[in-house]
Amino acid sequence: MSTAFAHEARTTSMNRDDLDLNEYEPRMNRPVRIKIADFQREERPKHVIVSDQFDEETLEEMAGTADMIRMLAKTRQGHSFLLNLLPHKRAMLYFTQPSTRTFLSFMAACQILGITCNEVRDPSTSSEEKGESRFDSIRTFSSYFDVIIMRSVLSRFAECCAYLMNDLEDFNHRSIPIVNAGSGADEHPTQALLDIYTLQRTFKFESTIDSRRTMSYESLRRNPQYAGLTRGLSGKVYGFCGDIGRGRTVRSLANLLSLYRDVTMVFVSPDHPKLSLKPDLEQKLLNRNVRLHQVDSFEEQIDGQPVIEMLDALYMTRIQREHDDPNDAGAYQGIDFRKYCLTTEMVARMKDYAAILHPFPRDKNFGEIPPEIDNDHRAMYFRQARNGMWIRAAVLASLFGVDRQISRYFQSEYTERHDYNEDVL
Ligand code: NCD
Repeated sequence: MSTAFAHEARTTSMNRDDLDLNEYEPRMNRPVRIKIADFQREERPKHVIVSDQFDEETLEEMAGTADMIRMLAKTRQGHSFLLNLLPHKRAMLYFTQPSTRTFLSFMAACQILGITCNEVRDPSTSSEEKGESRFDSIRTFSSYFDVIIMRSVLSRFAECCAYLMNDLEDFNHRSIPIVNAGSGADEHPTQALLDIYTLQRTFKFESTIDSRRTMSYESLRRNPQYAGLTRGLSGKVYGFCGDIGRGRTVRSLANLLSLYRDVTMVFVSPDHPKLSLKPDLEQKLLNRNVRLHQVDSFEEQIDGQPVIEMLDALYMTRIQREHDDPNDAGAYQGIDFRKYCLTTEMVARMKDYAAILHPFPRDKNFGEIPPEIDNDHRAMYFRQARNGMWIRAAVLASLFGVDRQISRYFQSEYTERHDYNEDVL
């Protein structure tokens, strides 16, 4: 058993014999650029396991599909076209770790495309209680369903399930796609897709809803402060604040943002090994030529400018106290956690067009984003949650190969007949 798994098995009081992972260990230990081939079929995702599966072009295509789905879903005719795409498919939502947005947005995404859903959220109600292995459960789900969307406390479990499905396929058994909806502290690829989609819409500077700035793109550019402003995700400064070390959403998003040109990332976190940027991610970002800064406050200056004033987008996160161990309380004593909470005064100093994101849930007791910020035009986190539903519908459309059908229908039926409003909600 790998060290990561052994540790997690202990911390989740799981029976170690329950997971026979040895079989998958050699495949898990391969470099990511090699193993992503196992999750693709003809250059398209066959499973969605890690953010590394996506490149800039695929991200553009996914966003395009999501845009078309959201516009089609607004009309009765478009809605019924979408509903008739996949009524013969069934999805299993296997979520054994708490979730609200990811679970519900996947369920809504399935409903948009006519996919029927079922769920298992509590493994104590399944045969795992009788000693069944998780892999037997997964194979059983695959007998009844056409996709498994799964969240687990175990990093790499979704990856192992994808290998299981590939092996079944090799032996001509039934095999279905696996979608990773959050795996331990490791990856949350579909969250990264919705974060990127939100940034793509924001930095198009087109819709007044998605970039709720007070000025148009042209007038922003006339402002000497924003003179070099360009459309798109390249050339931007991205801030990440809070629990950088334990947040899987930060890992997946930073990974995808590093695909873009001329990107600067500023990680604002307490200087503590559990909470700050992990060395493996740091190395990966540096290898991709990201300009990287690690600071412990928004007031720290980079090239003479306080961090809070230089950001084009800010990704706030909560401190994930559920992962603390008994020694952490002592180790955290010297940390002033208020530095990792936004205030309206700080937001007022941010660029006018900057986007504030948060994967949610936010922690009302910690207060990393107090509710008084919600009405600021830079607050994008509720839009971001809604974007999750559309991009997840696009992911499912791509997995089941109906994305081109959507595009054809949209081109032939919709653009010609409707004068659609770009600001469609
Ligand atoms: C996040 C997660 O579960 O990783 N939430 C989400 O999926 N939107 C972030 C968190 O729990 O803090």
